[in-house]
Amino acid sequence: MTRTPPSPLPPPLRDPAEQAPRVWAISDIHTDIKQNRTWLYALSKTAYLRDTLILAGDVCDRLEILRDTLAHVRSLFSAVCYVPGNHELWVRRRESPDSIAKFWQIRRLCQTLGIHTEPFKLSTMSGSGVWIVPLFSWYMQPEEGAGSLFVEKPGEDPTLSMWSDHHFTSWPPMVTAPTAAEFFLGLNEHHVNRAYDAPVISFSHFLPRTELIYSTPEERRGRVLTDPYPQFNFSRVAGCLGIDTQVRRLGAIIHIYGHQHRNRNRVIDGVRYISHCLGYPRERQHLSGDQFVQGPALIYDLSGVQGPAAHREVRSE
Ligand SMILES: [Fe+2]
Ligand SMILES: [Fe+2]
Repeated sequence: MTRTPPSPLPPPLRDPAEQAPRVWAISDIHTDIKQNRTWLYALSKTAYLRDTLILAGDVCDRLEILRDTLAHVRSLFSAVCYVPGNHELWVRRRESPDSIAKFWQIRRLCQTLGIHTEPFKLSTMSGSGVWIVPLFSWYMQPEEGAGSLFVEKPGEDPTLSMWSDHHFTSWPPMVTAPTAAEFFLGLNEHHVNRAYDAPVISFSHFLPRTELIYSTPEERRGRVLTDPYPQFNFSRVAGCLGIDTQVRRLGAIIHIYGHQHRNRNRVIDGVRYISHCLGYPRERQHLSGDQFVQGPALIYDLSGVQGPAAHREVRSE
C-alpha cells in the first residue's frame, strides 16, 4: 500500500509590508507518479507568485509529462531554475536518439517555457540580490576516475544490475569529455569562471560530497535504519567530487542537490548543503505525518533572513 502525502501546507504568512522575494527548493518530484502529481497540483496557486523555485532534477522521464509539470510549476512561481536529473535522460521510449540529445531537447523545452537553466539573478528594488547558478552533472563511477564518491560496501553487486540508468540511458561516443560526469561539468565551466556581484546559491541533481550520502545520528533521530538493498551500493552512482570543486570555485553560500531521496541540511566548510526531496510513495509508507515533505523548502529570503529548511530524512533506509 502506498500513501499519498497530505496536501502541501501553504508557506507561512508574512507581514504585507515585507514583500521581499524568497527562494524555495525541492527535487525528485517524480511526477510520472500519480500521487506526486496530486501533491504538485495541490500547491498554493497564489502564495509563491513573487518567489523563485529551485527544482533540482528528477521530475520525470516522459517528455510530455515533463512539459506539463514545468509549465505548471512556472505558473506558480515568478521564476523557476532547473537542472535535469538522471530520470529525465532516460530514453526507453526512444523519444530521443540518446541521452545527450535528450538533454539538449530538454534545454530547448525550458527555453520555450521560460525556465532558467543558466545563472539567474533575483533582485529587489532596494538593490539586494542573489544569484542562482545551475550545475549540470552526472555521477562518476569508481571505474571512471578518482572523482567518484565511491565507498566500498561488503557484499555489493558491482555490476549494478538493478540500477535503472544502466538499462534506460544511452550515451553517444563522448567527443569532448571521457565520461558523462566530465561532459556535464564541462558545460558549467563558462559560468563557474565568471564573476558574480551578489551571493551565489548553486544547485545540482547529483551529490557533491561523499559524507552527504550517510545520515548523522541527529538526522536519524534515534531511528534504527535498515538497508532494503544490501547488494546495491549507492555510492557508485551518487555524484562526483567535481561538483563540489565547482561549488567552491563559485564561492556559493548554499548548494542544493537531490537524487538520493534523503533530506539533509548541513554546513560543511562554510557551505550549507540542502537536499529536500519529495521521493516515491513507497518511500513514504512508514513515515509519520511530520516527516512528510509538505512543500518546497524555504532556503533564502531577500529580506535578509535565511529561512529554515527541512532536515529530516524523507524515507527510512
Ligand atoms: Fe529521484
Ligand atoms: Fe536521481
